Amino acid sequence: MVTIERIGEHVGEEAEIRGWLYNMRSSGALRFLLVRDGTGVMQAVAVRSDLPAGVFDAAGALTQESSIIVAGLVREDRRAPGGYEMALRRLEVVQLADPYPITPKEHGVEFLMDHRHLWLRSQRQWAIMRVRAEVERALCRYLDDLGYLRMDTPILTPSACEGTTTLFETPYFERRAYLAQSGQLYNEATAAAFGRVYCFGPTFRAEKSKTRRHLTEFWMLEPEAAYLDLDGYMELAEGLVVAVVRQVLERRRRELEILQRDPAALERVQPPFPRITYDEAVERLRARGATIAWGDDFGGDEETVLSREFDRPVFVHRYPARCKAFYMQPDPARPEVVLGADLLAPEGYGEIIGGGQRIHDRELMERRIEETGLPAAEYQWYADLRRYGAVPHSGFGIGIERTVTWILGLEHVRETIPFPRLINRLYP
Ligand code: 4AD
Ligand code: MG
Repeated sequence: MVTIERIGEHVGEEAEIRGWLYNMRSSGALRFLLVRDGTGVMQAVAVRSDLPAGVFDAAGALTQESSIIVAGLVREDRRAPGGYEMALRRLEVVQLADPYPITPKEHGVEFLMDHRHLWLRSQRQWAIMRVRAEVERALCRYLDDLGYLRMDTPILTPSACEGTTTLFETPYFERRAYLAQSGQLYNEATAAAFGRVYCFGPTFRAEKSKTRRHLTEFWMLEPEAAYLDLDGYMELAEGLVVAVVRQVLERRRRELEILQRDPAALERVQPPFPRITYDEAVERLRARGATIAWGDDFGGDEETVLSREFDRPVFVHRYPARCKAFYMQPDPARPEVVLGADLLAPEGYGEIIGGGQRIHDRELMERRIEETGLPAAEYQWYADLRRYGAVPHSGFGIGIERTVTWILGLEHVRETIPFPRLINRLYP
């Protein structure tokens, strides 16, 4: 079967496309059918005098999103969207669609979100989802090539990784389970077994915040490596982000064009990324008028201000221990800060990666679990990893939706996942 994406290989031939009517325009004895098949959009031109009786009228009766099979001669045409068009010869109507709720006019976001199952068919969503898939492909490819082994981690877990306030709880036979916030703790076990690993899957947080960067279900790719320190992590994350952006630039130009994303902003994503300490970040924020106390975590606003100061992603490292998770390795030179770093995307986008070096000392780990008030019994296996061949190790998580939002210069993460889950949205 021929796809629109590869229609250029069939110029001068008769081809058949199976798809849907995206839009139509008539002008006298001509009808321009914009047909989409999921891989692209192509124009099929119906000329009354060239067609068997009935076909031209059938084309005229088509409604938006009717499923159709069209066939005809493929030719190059620089004026046509995509550069090729089809001289319509045959038309088969598979289903004549009911009046379609999403018309080319403007719709409100809530209306579109209620019709997300249909909204996905629009050109804009098509471009976003194709870039999302490309980002996922590029991430896995980069790590696979470096010898990282993909190790899937559980979704149903007995304990928290990123704090107990955002846990989703679910009954689990006689007890309860939580949906994974991160695969990290399990990655640490598989990293000791396989050296370098990554997991990639959905993660869940009962985020009560209604912001443009929070979903309750998001996808995260998390590499973890034995014998990797904080600097090693930043180097790995930098290489990964550069490779992902480059692959999108190479393979998704058309999509960037549809979304009117200026490639120049992405072309600037070159190594080395600046690395600043939390202390320096606080100074920069204060210089911009923020009243932030040392020890406070950055919120979205602070990240926005910081990330506007750089033309490429920036690492902020050595955060105060009290604003980071229990497993973060304290800096031996300054135990009040940890060997963790976030990567903030430029243009005001803020954090897309969080990670760092993990505590590998058993006593310290057990103390941190206790101080944090976590149920020690559920973390026994995790603390155990520090008894059998403990080594310094590091890892991080990159959020897919935030990364795609930044790469495409979008306003909100909600459009970067097929069916977004937000505090006030579970449908469709
Ligand atoms: O900084 P976070 O919470 O780090 C972790 O979960 C670590 N355990 C990862 C690791 O070291 N293996 O989350 C990592 C990234 C964030 O930088 C962000 O991109 C994304 O996950 N993220 C979210 N994306 C959308 N909605 C949310 N509610 C998100 N929370 C985190
Ligand atoms: Mg974080």
